Amino acid sequence: MPYLQAPAATSMSINWISETDEPGTISLSGPGLGKSGKQSSAPQYLDLMEYTRAELDQQIEGLEQGSWLKSNSNYKHSVTFQGLLPGKSYNYTVTQSGETHSAAFKTAPKGGAWKNVRIIAFSDSETEPRGRTEHREWELSPVNGYTADSIQRPGAGSKWDQQFGMTTRNGEPTLRYPLDQSTAFNENLKHIEAADPDLVMMAGDLTQGSGYQPAWDELFGHVAGEHSDLASSVPLLPALGNWETYAALNGGYGTETDLDPGSHFPPAGFGIPVGKDRATRL
Ligand SMILES: [Fe+2]
Repeated sequence: MPYLQAPAATSMSINWISETDEPGTISLSGPGLGKSGKQSSAPQYLDLMEYTRAELDQQIEGLEQGSWLKSNSNYKHSVTFQGLLPGKSYNYTVTQSGETHSAAFKTAPKGGAWKNVRIIAFSDSETEPRGRTEHREWELSPVNGYTADSIQRPGAGSKWDQQFGMTTRNGEPTLRYPLDQSTAFNENLKHIEAADPDLVMMAGDLTQGSGYQPAWDELFGHVAGEHSDLASSVPLLPALGNWETYAALNGGYGTETDLDPGSHFPPAGFGIPVGKDRATRL
């Protein structure tokens, strides 16, 4: 599905990824466009989206091997519309290879000429295919622990433990969250969509390892894919987090030949760090 980028008062970029190199078209309608409301795309092959051998061979407990992988041949389409009017609504339809997707967006208001803008900021979606089944640990801060008036969480053998399980975190038995990560992100997205934001800011750690393509597939599935089309109508403004500097199970960025066999973080062949290093998952 298409996703918006570079939102401005008078321009907007509309992008999408396809499996074929066929150009697509975008028809945009709204004020100030004239004849420029229709543009074609010039697809560009994205070699960095090719899966590495480690990604193709990855096993994830609870999922059929490879069932999360998408096409291994991808093209990016990016079309920018200029000359839009500030604070106005526009409708667009992307057509490519017989498929269409329609959505709408609003341009940013002109500086000083706005009454309110609704921004939703969040972070740490940290998507990965493993998040479809994994219930992450419900960490209790080792620094702050319980406050004086806190009710203690259920412990080992509790109904919570029986239903959702426990793990060990920083040497302490720790409950797991009741939802898997994918379900939890979808629940948050429902609230975000219901709030009808003008802009969504993501303050880092979008994926569980930026050099790990299946994690990006998972993110786009949530914001412009099978789970929602939020990013088709609301621009996302991301920032870099610490997980954007990790290549996850690849041990390095880029293609197979770029892989650094000397890189031990995270350990080769394993998607997430273990033991003490898990503290850096946050
Ligand atoms: Fe994080």
